[in-house]
Amino acid sequence: MTYAEEYRQSIHEPEKFWADKAARLAWFTPPKSVLTKDDNGIDRWFSDGEMNTAYMALDHHVENGRADQVAIIYDSPVAQSKQQYTYLQLRDAVATFAGALRDQGVEKGDRVVIYMPMIPEAVIAMLAVARLGAIHSVVFGGFAPHELAVRIEDAEPKVLVTASCGIEVAKVIEYKGLVDEAISLSKHKPDCCIVYQREQARASLDQSRDLDWNDAMAGAEPADCVPVMATDPLYILYTSGTTGKPKGVVRDNGGHAVALKYSMDAVYNMRPGEVFWAASDVGWVVGHSYIVYGPLLHGCTTVVYEGKPVRTPDSGAFWRMTEEYKIKALFAAPTAFRAIRKEDPEALQLANYDISSLETVFMAGERLDPPTYLWTVEKTGRPVVDHWWQTETGWAICANPTGIETMKPKPGSSTLPTPGFNVQVLDAQGNELPAGEQGAIAIKQPLPPGCLPTIWGDIARFKSGYLSDFPGYYCSGDGGYKDDDGYVFIMGRTDDVINVAGHRLSTGEMEEILAAHNAVAECSVIGVHDSLKGQVPVGLVLLKDGTDIDEETLQSELVGMVRKEIGPIACFQRAVVVPRLPKTRSGKILRKLLRQIAADQDVTVPSTIDDPASVPEIQEIMKTQGLVNG
Ligand code: COA
Ligand code: AMP
Repeated sequence: MTYAEEYRQSIHEPEKFWADKAARLAWFTPPKSVLTKDDNGIDRWFSDGEMNTAYMALDHHVENGRADQVAIIYDSPVAQSKQQYTYLQLRDAVATFAGALRDQGVEKGDRVVIYMPMIPEAVIAMLAVARLGAIHSVVFGGFAPHELAVRIEDAEPKVLVTASCGIEVAKVIEYKGLVDEAISLSKHKPDCCIVYQREQARASLDQSRDLDWNDAMAGAEPADCVPVMATDPLYILYTSGTTGKPKGVVRDNGGHAVALKYSMDAVYNMRPGEVFWAASDVGWVVGHSYIVYGPLLHGCTTVVYEGKPVRTPDSGAFWRMTEEYKIKALFAAPTAFRAIRKEDPEALQLANYDISSLETVFMAGERLDPPTYLWTVEKTGRPVVDHWWQTETGWAICANPTGIETMKPKPGSSTLPTPGFNVQVLDAQGNELPAGEQGAIAIKQPLPPGCLPTIWGDIARFKSGYLSDFPGYYCSGDGGYKDDDGYVFIMGRTDDVINVAGHRLSTGEMEEILAAHNAVAECSVIGVHDSLKGQVPVGLVLLKDGTDIDEETLQSELVGMVRKEIGPIACFQRAVVVPRLPKTRSGKILRKLLRQIAADQDVTVPSTIDDPASVPEIQEIMKTQGLVNG
């Protein structure tokens, strides 16, 4: 089938299309119903199917000839450790850890928070939770205790699984103190905390609550897979919204498994038995979908890499890994390639390695700028696929469908809508715009399998945040346009979310933190172009009258506050004091206008502006401070 035929079928006959894809998986009770509405009026896939995601990802393969195939390759330049698990070994470790969790009272529907570095035990913990029909919520290790606490409080886990430390290049980050602080900050307290002890820094355990991973495993009986309905949640993954409260994106079991398995073929052109490497972290959606679930559901070998693209030990890391493990598809954020390019512009390191196994490089997480795209194509000699997706969708909304038909790439575009996604560009009134015109990018409902059915515990927030702006559509929060050939160009967020090194952060949350400083009257945080990280946050700060604080001290205090509350991953390093901020007459800061200035776009000054002179003034300040793109 051509891409056009496959896409057409997915949009016009979605039930037939997805029923066929669902048949590729090992259900306990195959679904008879394909697309129905739930009690909230939300489209749901395969609602009467019974299954277990960990069964589909592990046991099924063990029972069907893949027991001795490598399931996970762990490679850690920072811990100087390499390890491999076959499907049988991984299934057994997962079953035993599931038994350990069950011993702590974890049952179907219970939540388990996982706060771990990139080690195989993180994957084992996720799959063990899935095996019990429970719900995991993985929190990225670069988040500070406050962020972890917010997630614990919202997810209310019975158990928290962590490790004694993470390793950031040469820095050992002790996790246990961070976890203890988070638990003390949270109103909800998990009953038990299971700690995987690493030799780089052993944690001291509190006997009343903490349990050593090895002790928990030693006493546990392997647990069987617990059947769940396709619509039962598999995980919650928190992501940044426009406010300080992160959104718990819920992923169900059935639609997720069907979509990911399909994507492994259609988007990534992978066959079972081949090696797939997503150089991300299990704390992000890319890690959930393409380090853990996608490759394993498809019977591939996946890679858990505890290192960076550079400095561990050098900019040849990606090429070394590709040679060593015969990687067929490499998936990373554009920032990673910008980092490699910065250190090795001529890609001299590449000559030291045989990357002949590599078929395609995939990039996502942020806009892929044409220079990075062209550099990677030229140096690797491989096609580079820019694909666009979000935590909410769990898989690519737009991509070059290399497993169906490779389309001619266009730099700056994430190519065409993936089958299942009816992508439209809308004007402010919700009318579909013609080719070439920029607007809000929305997906006409129904969303395909795999996309979120709700926000954890907050259906109203799901509806108001995503489904209300344009009735009948899911609003992505991204803006852009389609060209005459239907290629989609994503130009950036239309809200206060920014992308820093492929990590999604909320400027609203940073503003709440800055506003808590004694000297700050008002502030706005904007994303400013950065040649390595794509964007970095910068605070524009208005001081309270009569405040006597020098700018350097203020900046270092504000930087410290953001680091303490959100974590180092926020990369907040700059605050600029301004005499005033452009506002409406009702006192609302014109954030969109500030974003437009920073992006060097034409500014739209609303008629409700309080003082029009504040616009050229802030433009001038931002220009002289180097806060304007280009
Ligand atoms: N645990 C604790 N701290 C972490 C962390 C983790 N898992 N990950 C990052 N951090 C810390 C870093 O140590 C750094 O702290 P510092 O300010 O004390 O130095 C800070 O967070 C910023 O980290 P990072 O953005 O990774 O910057 P870097 O300068 O260390 O590395 C790159 C730059 C380009 C190598 C890195 O950003 C990178 O690999 N980017 C790819 C991103 C990616 O894969 N995104 C996934 C989405 S698909
Ligand atoms: P996250 O939910 O963390 O995966 O971030 C999703 C956001 O990252 C999207 O809404 C986009 O703003 C941005 N993004 C992801 N992939 C791309 C891409 N290929 N091109 C442009 N922006 C992207």
